[in-house]
Amino acid sequence: MMLFRVLAVALSVGPVAWAQTAPRHVKQERLWATLEKLSEFGRPPGAGFEGGVTRLGFSDADLSAREYVTGLMRDAGLEVRVDPAGNIFGRREGADPSLPVLLFGSHIDSVPGGGNFDGDVGTLGAIEVVRALNDHGVRTRHPLEVVIWTHEEGSTFGHGLFGSSAASGQVKAEVLARRDAQGTTLADWLRRYGQDPARLAEARIPRGRVAAYLELHIEQGPVLDESRAQIGVVQGIVGINDWLCTATGFANHAGTTPMDRRQDALAAASRAVLAVREEVRRETGRAVGTVGNMKVSPGGTNVVPGSAEFPVELRDLNVEIIESMWRRIEQRFAAIGREENAAFDCQLIFSARPALTDTALRDVIRDAARTAGFSTMDLPSGAGHDAQQVSYFAPVGMIFVPSRDGISHSPREYSSPAAVASGAEVLYRALLALDARP
Ligand code: GLV
Ligand code: MN
Ligand code: MN
Repeated sequence: MMLFRVLAVALSVGPVAWAQTAPRHVKQERLWATLEKLSEFGRPPGAGFEGGVTRLGFSDADLSAREYVTGLMRDAGLEVRVDPAGNIFGRREGADPSLPVLLFGSHIDSVPGGGNFDGDVGTLGAIEVVRALNDHGVRTRHPLEVVIWTHEEGSTFGHGLFGSSAASGQVKAEVLARRDAQGTTLADWLRRYGQDPARLAEARIPRGRVAAYLELHIEQGPVLDESRAQIGVVQGIVGINDWLCTATGFANHAGTTPMDRRQDALAAASRAVLAVREEVRRETGRAVGTVGNMKVSPGGTNVVPGSAEFPVELRDLNVEIIESMWRRIEQRFAAIGREENAAFDCQLIFSARPALTDTALRDVIRDAARTAGFSTMDLPSGAGHDAQQVSYFAPVGMIFVPSRDGISHSPREYSSPAAVASGAEVLYRALLALDARP
């Protein structure tokens, strides 16, 4: 292990001799102050910045946070518009109106019990880059657009990457009718966000309008932290498929129904959870599979459960591995159903294909990092990102900064002020390098 670490450092560290002399354009304290302020929207009662955040996409907390961030965009001189999917764009004109847009940004929604860095770093880092360009009086050739994608996490409606999926034409109209826990549909939420759901298809961005998309993000895993590399150059992003499954049995009296006559949906679903884990573990690569929650009905202590609803999420860089794991899982569910006298029904509710980043953009990011004096490492992303949907219509590149102890989707998610600012500095430099490309 030690040898691996030494090797990784040796491979990743760039020419650090002049690291201290490379100028910084972004302002670390100014960027960090906006991260702290954004954390107030959806902060758990009584908690501080380190207490994490629950700011689900399509919620009141998200709506207020959007107002705050939109204000920051306007203060930075950006011209703000919102598309029919609720994606927020802030435009800064370039010198040559014939050139396509350089697009960069991320998301500000969180998972339940999330941290204050996932999405926020890329969003606020993008706005800080615009402020830094203003400070330095830089006029780019290309128009620049900062984007905040709607509902990236999918925590409310089971459709992650919602805004970027709409921009890439990957959202089916059926999604608009999905309901949150209060019974409000996604279409209703779009109206609350000031949009007309009937016009969702107009959010699509045609190929050619965007010259390149860059997304700064925390790594959300341990690779950079453990290897002590300062900047990650993302090679590709995993594919993700989510199914919503229901095990149906028969609700009956817990005192009078003999053990051999039960149709216990929760017992069947519990076996299904372990079957998912077993089938994923049979893969030798980096495939992962998760059952993240379960809703049991009717939920009485003295009632045999009649139904249990749970999502199954599978991820891998290879879509064929996802498909073969799912085929095995379906067979296991069918066998468990026979043994438990229960029926399983699963529907695919979300699918994002794996995506490679653009090799030329990787080079631009790596060079930008190295000329700023940062060590770099190329790595894949096990987390999903809006960039993978953007890859349908534009070349994409992603800049990662280290996550302390690799923790994410947790209040304990943390990246240092210096790490966050380093990522924004690389974004600044990479954008200018792209702008200068013929
Ligand atoms: C987003 O963070 C995801 O990977 O689910
Ligand atoms: Mn996330
Ligand atoms: Mn994210």
